[in-house]
Amino acid sequence: MQKKLPFTNDELLNIVNKYETPFHLYDEKGIIESARTLINAFSWAPNFKEYFAVKATPNPSILKILKNEGCGTDCSSMAELVLSQKVDIVGENIMFSSNDTPASEFKKAKELNAIINLDDISHISFLENHAGLPEILCFRYNPGAAREGNAIIGNPQEAKYGFTKEQLFEGYKYIKEKGVKRFGLHTMVASNELNEYYFVETAIMLFDLAVEIYKQLDIKLEFINLGGGIGIPYKPDQKPVDINLISSEIQKEYNKKIKANGINSKIFFECGRVITGPNGFLISKVLHLKKIYKNYIGLDACMANLMRPALYGAYHHITVIGKDDKPKTFLYDVVGSLCENNDKFAIDRYLPEISIGDIVVIHDAGAHGHAMGFNYNGKLRSAELLLKTDRSVEMIRRKETLNDYFSTIV
Ligand SMILES: Cc1ncc(COP(=O)(O)O)c(C=O)c1O
Repeated sequence: MQKKLPFTNDELLNIVNKYETPFHLYDEKGIIESARTLINAFSWAPNFKEYFAVKATPNPSILKILKNEGCGTDCSSMAELVLSQKVDIVGENIMFSSNDTPASEFKKAKELNAIINLDDISHISFLENHAGLPEILCFRYNPGAAREGNAIIGNPQEAKYGFTKEQLFEGYKYIKEKGVKRFGLHTMVASNELNEYYFVETAIMLFDLAVEIYKQLDIKLEFINLGGGIGIPYKPDQKPVDINLISSEIQKEYNKKIKANGINSKIFFECGRVITGPNGFLISKVLHLKKIYKNYIGLDACMANLMRPALYGAYHHITVIGKDDKPKTFLYDVVGSLCENNDKFAIDRYLPEISIGDIVVIHDAGAHGHAMGFNYNGKLRSAELLLKTDRSVEMIRRKETLNDYFSTIV
């Protein structure tokens, strides 16, 4: 499939003339469409909700767009809770799914009346001691050997997250005795998964568990959170996940297992990548061409702007503006300026012949992109821009300055 851009070359060059590269550019229209695709697909599910994973794109302007579409937030830290609060997403519109959690964050989540999703059985008493048990509580399940994970999130048996099955039953029994009245179940066993049936299997696993919990403990789960992890086609030959297929297969299982047993749990997701990933682009300028044993293209962006290629060896498609119709016959490594040899956006990539000053677009950088930024080598975080539905461009985060960088030094 051809990788499309939501802006024309002229539009982008005008933006580059106004705002210094590198920057992330998000497409509001695409974000809205992605959110609607997921929400509409699950319109059969009673009170379906997408809790957008803030960690994917922690920018208030993006959260406001998603709030308008009816999304809540999935928060994993104090800063994400406060960010959510700042855009007035509070109460049960927040799912607080964190691990190795400090007491202060549980207190803040409780103060906001967020739904707290516990990562470990020992966190029940930790929460009880530090913030008190809320009326509604959710547990994250780690199926261990019962499921295979995938490359990014790892094999569940080796993953640090969640309760074992035995701990789930013990935990629900305990909190019910302690007066908790409403219960949820959550899992997240894969990341960037493109196989639709993986999500159907996850749903089957949780629905079966919900029936067991009902039969053994007389607890009707109020909601089942299927997590995030829906993948996106980073490579041009990959297909987008068919969310309608996931939904219709899950609906069949829901009717068979949940509805048939009179449990009627709500279905939640907490996706990030599939909402913002394909709708964000890292825009960068070519600074240097270097020829040694290989040919290197040196960009003004580096892995501090987008860490996924260095971290996971992830593929990100690259378009050279104005050269898309030229033959891709030049073999390059496209690199950043960090003193790390894995600071490479692409290795052995065939591209059109590149010149200094060319503008390159690195695709699918809207989720887990800017958010993973860091200051190593004194790199300052870049700006974030929003291409709005009326085609105007708004800066939604300015780039860092040297003063910002030095401001924490005492
Ligand atoms: C608990 C949890 N929920 C949701 C997400 C969002 O995942 P994705 O952006 O792949 O949908 C993550 C990602 O790391 C996560 O750890």
